[in-house]
Amino acid sequence: MNNEQLKEYVIKNMYGWWGGQGHCATVLGCIIEQNDVGNHLEIGTLFGATAIYAGLIMEREGINGIVYTVDPCLYETHEYCSRVAGNLSPDIVKHQSEIIYENIKKFELENRIVFINKSSNPIPEELLGVEFNSCFIDGFHYSGMPLIDTKNCVELFNMKHIILDDTHYRYPDVIKALKYLIGLKNWGMSVSYQNTSAFHRIIYKEPSMEISISAPMDKTKLNWPDFMEKEIA
Ligand SMILES: C[S@@+](CC[C@H](N)C(=O)[O-])C[C@H]1O[C@@H](n2cnc3c(N)ncnc32)[C@H](O)[C@@H]1O
Repeated sequence: MNNEQLKEYVIKNMYGWWGGQGHCATVLGCIIEQNDVGNHLEIGTLFGATAIYAGLIMEREGINGIVYTVDPCLYETHEYCSRVAGNLSPDIVKHQSEIIYENIKKFELENRIVFINKSSNPIPEELLGVEFNSCFIDGFHYSGMPLIDTKNCVELFNMKHIILDDTHYRYPDVIKALKYLIGLKNWGMSVSYQNTSAFHRIIYKEPSMEISISAPMDKTKLNWPDFMEKEIA
């Protein structure tokens, strides 16, 4: 299945729903499928759609890595969802973590997805020491949280790819995180589509300092300036 088909497959077969009807799938999919190895972190699980989608792409591509997904599953952190989806009642939220586990089981991704039922801040101890390749930030959209999550990814997790969801003027706190990433000189934007924006760390490689000398050096053949000849002699 290609990414579009995978998205439809997840939506059709999961319990609950995919936040934003899956608008983030194109960008998330193209970042995940490019990684040949590495763990993926997700902040904001909801019912597991994006974690499952990432996990299925990793399965398809034979990518070695785990998807860690973090969500405190608390009604008071759901103002975004209750406003957009309209029907996230306290009752559904009470069962949110159970629904997440059921979905992981349904897609047979128990060995691929680790769900952490906590807030992303402070960083859950389960994540300390784990090396990550990429992060999808889709947790609490207010109170400076998107910037906190983004800074943690840049500074603490040494992430190579960061995907921000809902980079839209309706979410000024997400825009702050977007501006922060745009302002970092060693980060560049990879792709942005339908309010999902991906960034990557630009890795500068030092030129190799190794010089291989296959034969003894003949100083007479080197064209040094005079003052250098004296230095070398
Ligand atoms: C937009 S929904 C995530 C949608 C999900 N990625 C999907 O595509 O289906 C936002 C989620 O962030 C979670 N959330 C709220 N505060 C959080 C926090 N401090 N840490 C992690 N997740 C949080 C909410 O519980 C909610 O489930």
